[in-house]
Amino acid sequence: ESTADGDRYELVQQEAEAEIIPGFATRLWTYGGVFPGPTIEARRGRHTTVLHRNELPVPTVLHLHGGRTPAASDGYPTDLVLPDGWTGHAGHSMADDRAAVANLQREYGFPLDQRAAMLWYHDHRMDFTAPAIWRGLAGLHLVRDDVEDALDLPRGDRELPLMIADRAFDEDGQLAYPAVDPSLTGEHGVTEPYLAGVLGDVVLVNGAPWPEHEVDTGLYRLRVLNASNARHYELEAVADDGRTVPLVQIGADQGLLAAPVPHDRLPIAPAERYDLLVDFGGLPVGSAVRLRNRLGTGPAADVMRFRVARDGTPAQIPATLAYDLPEWDRADAAVVRDLAFRAGRMDDGRHGWLIDGLPFDPARADVTARLGDVEVWRLVADVHHPVHLHLVGFRVLSRGGGAPLPHDAGLKDTIALRPGESAEIITRFDGYRGRYLFHCHNAEHEDMGMMANLEIV
Ligand code: C2O
Ligand code: CU
Ligand code: CU
Repeated sequence: ESTADGDRYELVQQEAEAEIIPGFATRLWTYGGVFPGPTIEARRGRHTTVLHRNELPVPTVLHLHGGRTPAASDGYPTDLVLPDGWTGHAGHSMADDRAAVANLQREYGFPLDQRAAMLWYHDHRMDFTAPAIWRGLAGLHLVRDDVEDALDLPRGDRELPLMIADRAFDEDGQLAYPAVDPSLTGEHGVTEPYLAGVLGDVVLVNGAPWPEHEVDTGLYRLRVLNASNARHYELEAVADDGRTVPLVQIGADQGLLAAPVPHDRLPIAPAERYDLLVDFGGLPVGSAVRLRNRLGTGPAADVMRFRVARDGTPAQIPATLAYDLPEWDRADAAVVRDLAFRAGRMDDGRHGWLIDGLPFDPARADVTARLGDVEVWRLVADVHHPVHLHLVGFRVLSRGGGAPLPHDAGLKDTIALRPGESAEIITRFDGYRGRYLFHCHNAEHEDMGMMANLEIV
């Protein structure tokens, strides 16, 4: 529904079935009965309201990842939308105890006063985000603006949002989450054997395993999201004559770059987005291009295929993208913080993923930042941790003491720290005051405690 005040959607969070593996009906948790959830398209600065009604058997929380959202609609992990008749399970979590309101639905308001970008929405319930996303609670949310329109980038069927997510299936074609099932027991969702996170051997793109997509010999815009819980990919497009087709990056998590950056190979960590132009010109009609994952073995080494079906109109990749990126400088920083993302033992002896030695506690103030301040964060990791900040976009200042990598360009909201690596990011905390979060976006790490409060005052 569209009015002068903005756009309004209603989404029912409900169980649904889909034929993902041919011949099997897979039970899913969905937004609106489909996986991925419906793609929401919005204009910069046009208010979007989404009413979510929870008809799932468990509490939910909605977060718009990458959104500049007032705290009340940001989906804090204990702002639960309860299911009808919810009384909690025998070992139900602390988060459920803290639920203040027994609401069955909730209206989330998104001002979207931000640059054109591909955001995504997903569940964010404390301790249970990973199994909820795994079961299907994720969808895309595109923000458009005039700057992007003026670039005349590939649109319509030449613009392909691609949500990449690995999943594992059991012999009945049901999603296998290889850990305690929290919806049955209320227990913590992940157990120690899955410290590295949960991986699947089936790669889904927009909910379909290893799809094939027909293209012509023109230019395409691939808007890639890694919505996997824990899997990292290194993408490469290879034609069947062995040629590498360049992935020309025009945007990062938070929108377009100043100028395109070509890649032969592109690493993408959980929650990262890359906006890519791919030119199928020069390939013979009838040929195929595989989008491969160089970090995967066996079935996880493949993502999808493009089949060049017909001749298209050649198109130019723009030389500049006309965007002014914020020019924050180290010298502007009011505060420099050090934050360590490492494994450790929690008080109860369980193994956890910790930030500065502590697991997530909604009651504790971790980082308090002043609205309007520029800050530099020095992050350090023991193993791979894709670190995500809510509310703000940031720029990568350095990696491993040296220059950022080519794919660190632009405005990001998630940075993939590599094992043993340190990195510096810079941002300005503007937008809204309130309680936000930063966390590892390996969803199992997040559930195992690697999350902290970011209070903007
Ligand atoms: Cu993608 Cu805190 O979220
Ligand atoms: Cu987020
Ligand atoms: Cu992590």
